[in-house]
Amino acid sequence: MNEHAPPKSMSERADELEEEKMHEMERIITKSTIAHLMDGHVKMDTSPEMRAKHPGKFFLMGDDPRLPPMPEKPTLLDYFRHRFASTAHLLQSATHALNGGQPEKVVLACLLHDIAIVSFIRCDHGYWGAQMIEPYVDEEVAWAVKTHQALRFFPDDSVGYGYPDLYRELFGPDYQPEPYIVEEYKRARKHKWYMTSRLICTNDIYSFDPNAKVNLDDFVDIIGRNFRQPKEGLGLDNSPSAHMWRTILWPTRFL
Ligand SMILES: [Fe+2]
Ligand SMILES: [Fe+2]
Repeated sequence: MNEHAPPKSMSERADELEEEKMHEMERIITKSTIAHLMDGHVKMDTSPEMRAKHPGKFFLMGDDPRLPPMPEKPTLLDYFRHRFASTAHLLQSATHALNGGQPEKVVLACLLHDIAIVSFIRCDHGYWGAQMIEPYVDEEVAWAVKTHQALRFFPDDSVGYGYPDLYRELFGPDYQPEPYIVEEYKRARKHKWYMTSRLICTNDIYSFDPNAKVNLDDFVDIIGRNFRQPKEGLGLDNSPSAHMWRTILWPTRFL
């Protein structure tokens, strides 16, 4: 090692550690371009470059050994347990709806409203989340999940919903939603399922009580009755959004 080299930054050290770990792997693990974009780089992992770095190895085309293993035919509950980075917020929102006597459709919508954030992508999480679940739930549930993203920004005095204080803290006092969100809100306001989506907002709990008792088991039956679990496994079926679930199952497959 060159003693006169400038000290390494945290991120350089992290990259090195990742690189060292990669060499121990049987297969070459690549990152998708979107992951690089998220790091602020317009770049991609190319096969010649990766093969030169890891001679004699094949690319990963299945399970990522760094992630918790998933069963052969995964269910929504398996994704909750092994792929969702955090479930407290979803469980707290759904518990709030359940205790408030809301119908199962609303409870399910609350349980699933932010799944895109906890498992996939933040930007436009309502739209991504709705697409993920659309083939498996009542149309009204998917619509409500899509639209809550816009409704969150707009008060509704009739149900005692105000602009969230948290948003002021998170985005600053002057933040204004983009025109596409405003337009989505206007359309939703006139929609027959407006209140279903609004109920996601009124049950969207942000005060995390570390002592609040929430348990995925409380929702197993509601999921069973309201989420059409494909027999092949969620993501291994032929639905229009199966590929999204597969991507969460195998996020580092080369193709
Ligand atoms: Fe949300
Ligand atoms: Fe939420």
